[in-house]
Amino acid sequence: MLLRLTICLTILSCFFACQNAAEQKTATAETSIETSVSATKRDPVYVKGLELVGKSDCLTCHKIDDKLIGPSYKEIAKKYAGAPNDVVTALARTIIQGGSGNWGNVPMTPHPAVSQEDAETMVRYILTLN
Ligand code: HEC
Repeated sequence: MLLRLTICLTILSCFFACQNAAEQKTATAETSIETSVSATKRDPVYVKGLELVGKSDCLTCHKIDDKLIGPSYKEIAKKYAGAPNDVVTALARTIIQGGSGNWGNVPMTPHPAVSQEDAETMVRYILTLN
């Protein structure tokens, strides 16, 4: 009888120990997601790109999550995820010169007042949204 009780207690305490370990694991995962989000928000490219996009007229045609006149920034980020530097350069040129045909027939107006450097920062900011 005593032996049975001991076995039973051992199993029970093992069960609780396992549950505790699983909870700790979840907590660690949540913390690391939060860390990566705030790391992005502290990223100078994110901060500068967001500022430039906000100062220009981009947001009259683009939203972060939903399609407006142009594709959402998240869709753009998904399409060009992990793209090499020359794609970033080309996308920046598209912002300056205007473009159409990659997402449909609606054209994006040109932005001749935006420098190549600023346009690249905007593209890099958009690509962080994936
Ligand atoms: C008049 C509306 C309009 C404005 C203003 C606008 N866009 Fe666009 N944008 C579009 C449309 C429409 C497309 C899709 C063009 C296509 O199909 O190739 C697009 C596409 C893009 C793309 C993807 C290009 C590609 O070839 O895949 C990027 C990046 C982009 N816009 C960034 C910006 C930024 C940054 C600004 C602000 C400087 C901006 N857009 C302002 C309408 C606009």
